[in-house]
Amino acid sequence: MATVSQPVPEGAHITVCEVGPRDGFQIEPAFIPTAKKIEIVNALFAAGLRHMQVTSFVSPRAVPQLADAEAVLAGIDRPEGAVITALVPNLRGAERAAGAGVDAVHTVVSASETHNLKNVNRPIDASLREFEAVCALMLRHGIRVEGGIATAFGCPFEGVVPAEQVARIARRYQDLGATSVGLGDTTGMATPTTVRAAVRAIRDAAPGLGIGLHFHNTRGVGLACVMAGLAEGITHYDASVGGLGGCPFAAGATGNICTEDLVYLLNESGYDTGIDLAALIAAAKLTQDVIGRDLPGQVIKAGPRLRRYDPGLTATASG
Ligand code: COA
Ligand code: ZN
Repeated sequence: MATVSQPVPEGAHITVCEVGPRDGFQIEPAFIPTAKKIEIVNALFAAGLRHMQVTSFVSPRAVPQLADAEAVLAGIDRPEGAVITALVPNLRGAERAAGAGVDAVHTVVSASETHNLKNVNRPIDASLREFEAVCALMLRHGIRVEGGIATAFGCPFEGVVPAEQVARIARRYQDLGATSVGLGDTTGMATPTTVRAAVRAIRDAAPGLGIGLHFHNTRGVGLACVMAGLAEGITHYDASVGGLGGCPFAAGATGNICTEDLVYLLNESGYDTGIDLAALIAAAKLTQDVIGRDLPGQVIKAGPRLRRYDPGLTATASG
């Protein structure tokens, strides 16, 4: 029977998970010094973010930018209540993450075969089989598993990804002991319609499993997809500081939805994020300085809604 969704009520807490230090940094070609990564993570914590994907435990040959995962985790602040996660593609990554001290791991498998082969060099079923050992190890260490599903709303190589395929993987994750799944819109193919379909299919296939949404703004509808998620009762959204982001193994990938833009939308819509927008903009400006180019976010440029300009400094039209 189809599950009926309830919208998230106004005033409810929304978890904003910062993924810039992972999804954002992974696609940057110039190595960001470890100390700068740590400075950015700490500035994001200082803005009130309490859920962060700080790095990936992947092959340093696949993603050289994140070869310093252990050093980053050893150097960051860990504010009270912070949930520190990292991406892991395999058992080796899970062992490294457990040794480095994370609260949760974000495993990754794609919903499309071609992207899974590109991203982790194995078929979907091989990834899922390896996650049996990953989940068992994490449960032994008391580390939560968030089951990541990439290309959940479409694949740049295969096109349409059926919601039933996403739901099948979600159910498998639930059976392995994952507490939630994160639906990754790797190349910005999600729309409000496909978001509703995926969320409902998962609720039918895996009742009680948490769902997080991870949008990229490649086609400009990332925040519209968040609104669709809120209407379906979803309270967990990933976003990247400044709108950094992208998968090196997915053609046409661009940045995540921007954390400042998302927090602006949520705070102005009466949701509780616990995040201070002014401090977040400061963290985004720090990130922009470190990266060395303008980032795609809008609020970093425009400022908060009630930003006031000096009329004396603006021309008056006359004549
Ligand atoms: N951390 C560090 N090193 C790892 C590793 C991990 N999690 N997993 C494998 N390796 C090393 C192996 O030790 C081996 O090293 P060696 O050649 O020096 O002996 C080498 O990588 C190859 O190992 P193998 O198991 O054959 O992996 P592979 O070449 O088939 O690659 C992955 C598989 C999963 C390791 C690789 O594709 C990967 O890291 N993908 C991540 C992609 C990503 O981060 N995408 C963006 C996020 S969605
Ligand atoms: Zn992503």
